[in-house]
Amino acid sequence: MKTQENCSLLEHNTFGIAARARHFVEYDSVEELQDFIRQRNLRGDSSPLLHIGGGSNLLFLKDFDGTVLHSRILDLHITEDNDEEVSVRVGAGMVWDDWVELAVRKGWFGLENLSIIPGEVGASAVQNIGAYGAEAKDFILLVEAVDLRSGEVRRFSNAECQYAYRHSIFKTELRGRYAVTHVHFRLSHKFQPNLGYGALRQALAKSGMEEAQVDAVQLRKLIIDLRNSKLPDPKVVGNAGSFFTNPIVQRADYERIAAQWPDVPHYEVDADHVKIPAGWLIEQCGWKGKALGRAGVYEKQALVLVNLGGATGSDIEQLCRTIQSDVQQRFAINIIPEVNFI
Ligand code: EPU
Repeated sequence: MKTQENCSLLEHNTFGIAARARHFVEYDSVEELQDFIRQRNLRGDSSPLLHIGGGSNLLFLKDFDGTVLHSRILDLHITEDNDEEVSVRVGAGMVWDDWVELAVRKGWFGLENLSIIPGEVGASAVQNIGAYGAEAKDFILLVEAVDLRSGEVRRFSNAECQYAYRHSIFKTELRGRYAVTHVHFRLSHKFQPNLGYGALRQALAKSGMEEAQVDAVQLRKLIIDLRNSKLPDPKVVGNAGSFFTNPIVQRADYERIAAQWPDVPHYEVDADHVKIPAGWLIEQCGWKGKALGRAGVYEKQALVLVNLGGATGSDIEQLCRTIQSDVQQRFAINIIPEVNFI
């Protein structure tokens, strides 16, 4: 276990916000985390706890007056293997894309479309990360977590995680209560490319590759190139990927918008609901490539807010509120941040 006092969080959030934490604790095993909780309970310490992963979905509005926890649990082993599928238990601290790269290399298929999403394995199970027609929930078998109050280990089945678009029980009723320590994934030995997402099929056609011939390594490379062409590298420009979730609206609201903007992109959700890309709504409001002080809207993807250099969390928050209010005024739709404000 590694403990630091008055620790800079600059390297722990991809927005590059210079906030600090009173304590920063990194643990290497479930036992170390349990020991930390035991000691804390013995001291009667009830100061705030914040568990982070790669910090790619966080916006620090001020210094954190408590303990920031970070997992360095990195173990990985196969729990079941048969002709069709393999189940693998992966430590929450593993970098997400290291896991995807390893899975593709081993011939464990399914995660290709989720290549180079920033962050760590633990957060993938909290956030239900998704891209190009795939979501982490499609491959998660179960989640192991430690109760931050009692130190007890609990296993959550996929159904118990209550997964939905960018959503899980760890973001709602159990928010802040558990630290994910391991995620079990079920992957396939047979490669079946998931090419349902329009932009992906177009990129494949452009590359000259045949759908029937593409292999997992090629698909991963295609996804990496596609993402890099649209999203800024956080090492160069501070950002947290999509800043807002795409709103799921009533069909009547979609029809109201489509009557005025017949080309509005949209995805069918169910009989009553339609999802509209927030990036499109923001672009229509004229925000793409624009800035408010040191906070900006990325020029290639309006869903991404960027730190233009030295922005504070409040600068980004102010831009967020201004955009929300413009989208509300123009479309009567409320767009909600995906990023967590701390
Ligand atoms: N669009 C615009 N203007 C923009 C951006 C997008 O008009 O500035 C339109 C595009 O023309 C397209 C549609 O919006 O028709 C969708 O755009 P895109 O394919 O870029 O995806 P997205 O809906 O903006 C979501 C995820 C991304 C993920 C991509 C690809 C959310 C909140 N975001 O973005 O996830 O990579 O799909 O699957 O669902 C992330 O979560 O950090 C993230 C990057």
